[in-house]
Amino acid sequence: MNSHSTASLVNKEIFPGEVFVNTADFDIGIRRLLPKYDEMLDVLAGCISGANHRILELGCGTGELSLKVLQRYPSAEIVALDYSPRMLDFARSKIESAGYAARWSGIEMDFGEWANNPNFSGFGDRFDACISSLAIHHLDDEMKLKLFQRIRESLNPDGCFWNADPMLAESAAMRDIYQAAREEWAANQGETLAAIRGNVGMSVSYGYSNPDRLATLSAHLEMLASSGFETIAVPWKYYGMAVFGGFVN
Ligand SMILES: C[S@@+](CC[C@H](N)C(=O)[O-])C[C@H]1O[C@@H](n2cnc3c(N)ncnc32)[C@H](O)[C@@H]1O
Repeated sequence: MNSHSTASLVNKEIFPGEVFVNTADFDIGIRRLLPKYDEMLDVLAGCISGANHRILELGCGTGELSLKVLQRYPSAEIVALDYSPRMLDFARSKIESAGYAARWSGIEMDFGEWANNPNFSGFGDRFDACISSLAIHHLDDEMKLKLFQRIRESLNPDGCFWNADPMLAESAAMRDIYQAAREEWAANQGETLAAIRGNVGMSVSYGYSNPDRLATLSAHLEMLASSGFETIAVPWKYYGMAVFGGFVN
């Protein structure tokens, strides 16, 4: 156990995006906390069907999206970034147990750092696809835009970028509707959302990430357009969650 995780267990402080005090709670906990987590990741994985060889994943967490992509595309190779050693360790052992270690490299790195260093080429550029789920919403909007630009520059012609994240509600009324959908998801499990959140940690800013910095879906799509993505789409949306992205044409 590293010093970060030891400290976390004492004061429940976590890096933005780690979500749970204990990493072992993540895979079950995230499915109880968020409506349709698997459906959302499956849609995202489906979006790279035409560009699934060399893939960059930002904020891989415990490796659930990596696993879906490696299972679905036998030729996929993933470079997976995460700044959390404990999440990365968990992902690595899961990927190794599944027999995919040769097609997956986990790298401990802040993706904000990668965005801010256009000359960094530690793991190369020229990716066919960049994917991310539940991670980029921790960057402020200025860094989101910088990251989208960096992603655009690192993709091959015909490459694509897909992100799944929570969206800022369009109004107070929409925020209440999105919140009610999450409460209903909890109620369908015989719980309250507050009870399900019992083992969630208290996230404090770390590196380039912060507690949630949500932007609206339309703001995200504008950032993609101004970063040079040409075919922009929203293949999935469920209340306050969306999968969105685009292609380099
Ligand atoms: C909620 S988890 C999602 C993990 C996985 N993508 C999934 O959908 O299950 C978000 C992950 O992003 C990572 N993360 C957040 N901000 C980051 C940053 N600036 N650089 C690298 N990793 C980051 C966290 O450590 C965490 O593992």
